[in-house]
Amino acid sequence: MKPKRTIYLETMGCQMNALDSELALAALGQQGYVLTPAIESADLVVLNTCSVRHHAEEKVYSRLGQLRTNQKRVDDQIVAVIGCMAERDGDGLLEKMPHVDILCGPSELNRLPGLVADVEATRERAIALSGRLRDSTTPQQTKIAHDDLESLDSDRSFGLSAHAAMPKVFGRHQAYVRITRGCNKFCTFCVVPYTRGPEQHRPPQQIVDEVRRLAANGIVEVTLLGQTVNHYHFDPSGPEDCSFAALLRKVHDEVPELPRLRFVTSYPRDFTDEALQVMAESPRICKYLHIPAQSGSNTVLKRMNRGYTVEEYMSLIERARALMPDLAIAGDMIVGFSGETEEDFQKSLDLLRFCKYKNCFIFKYSPRPGTHADNRMPDDIPEIEKKRRNNDMLALQAEISLAQHQRLLDSTSEVLVEGLSKAALKRQESEQERGSEWRETPNGEADADANGQAESGAMSKPENASGAMPTLQGGHAGAARDASDSNNGKENTVQLVGRTEHDRIVVFDGSRDLIGSFANVRIIGATPHTLHGEITEVTREAAKGAGVSLTVLGH
Ligand code: SAH
Ligand code: F3S
Repeated sequence: MKPKRTIYLETMGCQMNALDSELALAALGQQGYVLTPAIESADLVVLNTCSVRHHAEEKVYSRLGQLRTNQKRVDDQIVAVIGCMAERDGDGLLEKMPHVDILCGPSELNRLPGLVADVEATRERAIALSGRLRDSTTPQQTKIAHDDLESLDSDRSFGLSAHAAMPKVFGRHQAYVRITRGCNKFCTFCVVPYTRGPEQHRPPQQIVDEVRRLAANGIVEVTLLGQTVNHYHFDPSGPEDCSFAALLRKVHDEVPELPRLRFVTSYPRDFTDEALQVMAESPRICKYLHIPAQSGSNTVLKRMNRGYTVEEYMSLIERARALMPDLAIAGDMIVGFSGETEEDFQKSLDLLRFCKYKNCFIFKYSPRPGTHADNRMPDDIPEIEKKRRNNDMLALQAEISLAQHQRLLDSTSEVLVEGLSKAALKRQESEQERGSEWRETPNGEADADANGQAESGAMSKPENASGAMPTLQGGHAGAARDASDSNNGKENTVQLVGRTEHDRIVVFDGSRDLIGSFANVRIIGATPHTLHGEITEVTREAAKGAGVSLTVLGH
């Protein structure tokens, strides 16, 4: 039998990338690859990259730079850069990092296994990019091999072991399911429509089948994914017409065994009353929305090409809250966009005060080559001023979040127990030989604790175990588990993290066996980003018999 080849995989960026990594890994697993945490000895290194901000790209350069000078790196190692940065900056990457063997854009990901096989056979560089950014300042509708790309999602490996072998933010009982690819909005600051291509909607039955199979394999929470998820509309004028509202209802009603259904990210302009109504009426759809506003000034929104006014955004929030009074809403804001005056910025702060977001991801504007804003609008807010606005906004959001959390003191909420808390993971990591030092925060550039969510966010992080890595066939990290528990003093009690249906993060003590269960937790402490609690009751036990490593549960 051929010896197993090893793959080191790092994921940066959004939930979409976390899912792409999982699917790419499953496809490579079929070619005999197994995960390793050791970058220097891996036969294949895959970096799944993000281009949304400059800072995210710098990290990739630094990673590749470290790899090039790593004395212990094996000779015939294959290095693949996949994701948005391959698409956006392929030429630059190859010029500065000649040891890169494979470039594969996010809309070509189904070709990755073939590219790897080609490089193995020929040792020649292999590239699959859509070329959207290269040929155009005006957006093009590039043809994509839709059916091939579809196969990447629909051929997903089911079974907890395959799922949990993926280094990702989620616990092993949660999964993403793509409903829409790409984006047609062309917000002037954003590179995504160029790197991920035009919007395409997956057939509803395929989505339902995937969710059902995940549920049958022990997944208790599914997050439907799309750049503008609520813009989903399959076959709008044809016989299979299915709107976003209809899809939500279908998934909810046809997979009753799934306890929790979420979706991200919503676009403010596309929310129909019907979709909100379905949400309100469906008990297993989480009452949580992520709806980026980006700015509270109509002048800035116009320059951003967002297609709505602040008033329209505010009325959406009011409509949604009228239907779902306990709805939790998260936002995204950009500060220091081209031409943003102090007055514009103050209007953004006002919008935060109005919306009372559960949390808000705040970004300093970062010009992206190839976008309309970079081509036509000056990046005229000095960095120091962007920083000041960023900090002011963070401080305001922290106050808003804290006030909401304090109101929850002494109340009881049901959480899905996701895994070890950040602190417990850190403790566990420091007790193990580390394979990788790299960590990322939810927002790429800002501190998770200051900006987004304390325990987890929209970001994958690399594998953290070393000796006890599971394979795609599953495995058991017994050694890691013992080390962590024995150091913890109390038998089998660790600090756990759970999440409410409103996406609120609660940290509490409990047994590892609770991971994957639902439990009621009484809130006993509050900070702006985290709640502290104690378990009062287990409401639904985790599915038994998942022989997978606890060390791969990332947060
Ligand atoms: N709809 C997508 C948006 C992807 S980009 C999704 O939520 O998955 C995620 C966020 O990054 C955006 O909402 C925006 O707030 C921020 N962003 C995008 N381009 C940016 C840029 N050039 N500079 C700063 N922030 C940016
Ligand atoms: Fe980007 Fe706007 Fe689409 S932020 S992903 S172009 S909705």
